[in-house]
Amino acid sequence: MIKIRRMTIDDLGLGLSLTQQAGWNQTEADWRRFIELEPEGCFVGELNGRSVGTTTTCVFRKTAWIAMVLVEVNARGNGVGTTLLKHSIEHLKSRQVGTIRLDATSLGRPIYEKLGFVPDYELARFEGVAPRGKKSSAVVEAGPGMFADLIEFDRRMTGRERVKMLGRLFEEFTENIRIVRRAGEIEGFVTMRPGANAVQIGPCTATPDAGSVLLCDAFNRCAGETVFVDIPLDNTEAVKVAESNGLTIQRSFTRMSWGLKAIDNAEASWASSGAEKG
Ligand SMILES: CC(C)(COP(=O)(O)OP(=O)(O)OC[C@H]1O[C@@H](n2cnc3c(N)ncnc32)[C@H](O)[C@@H]1OP(=O)(O)O)[C@@H](O)C(=O)NCCC(=O)NCCS
Repeated sequence: MIKIRRMTIDDLGLGLSLTQQAGWNQTEADWRRFIELEPEGCFVGELNGRSVGTTTTCVFRKTAWIAMVLVEVNARGNGVGTTLLKHSIEHLKSRQVGTIRLDATSLGRPIYEKLGFVPDYELARFEGVAPRGKKSSAVVEAGPGMFADLIEFDRRMTGRERVKMLGRLFEEFTENIRIVRRAGEIEGFVTMRPGANAVQIGPCTATPDAGSVLLCDAFNRCAGETVFVDIPLDNTEAVKVAESNGLTIQRSFTRMSWGLKAIDNAEASWASSGAEKG
């Protein structure tokens, strides 16, 4: 029998064991962030009384994201994943959301298609040891006084409303927020955070001029460490920067949406903030 219940901070251990089993990059801090940002919108799937699966949701006004769709290997194929998804969709409908988005792995995509999700575009996870490159004086650290402007810049460039998630990431990783400004105008920003397997670079939202400088700055700051960067393939310049810095594609994701068509500008995204945060 499948039962769905709310996920709480007490379930952090379950979340971590599922991400570890799947080889995902999320840490306890990532799980904690999901639950704290959406305390009513994260769920556990139980199969015959045992907690075996998870999903999280994150509402940004009329658009919501679903993430962390994970089911323990031994419990797969019993409908837990589908039931968790259906429950999340119902929950989001009750929050008057018009569009639901997610990044699908090849294992998840068939389930999402059956539930009405359609593909928007492809992203690739680039992986490699970050090289040391030329430092650019154009990139500087952004202080907390700039966060509101960065969030507004992100909204203008990507067409997405994600103040809740960006605000939280900026607070948590203040010293990692790097920006390019020309004549007082923001041209882009990048941030990064530690992961279980590699440093996750992103989000990076930027103009075509600033994007490559910001990605190279991030590589420099992580020189010698393994990094992951999730790049929309439509941003061909960002792909070139990753490749010319020795990174290779580890796997790909399909960004999908349900409901009203999602409009955003993939070219402005030089690094998605992780396959689960838009
Ligand atoms: C994707 C995932 C969450 C699906 O969970 P699940 O509980 O197995 O999903 P369901 O049982 O609802 O559906 C799985 C589908 O695969 C089929 N399937 C059959 N046997 C299966 C098995 N042993 N393992 C996985 N899937 C199986 C099912 O028939 C079902 O298709 P159907 O609806 O046509 O019957 C799970 O495979 C997983 O955790 N994968 C790793 C993490 C991942 O990629 N998550 C998706 C992120 S986008």
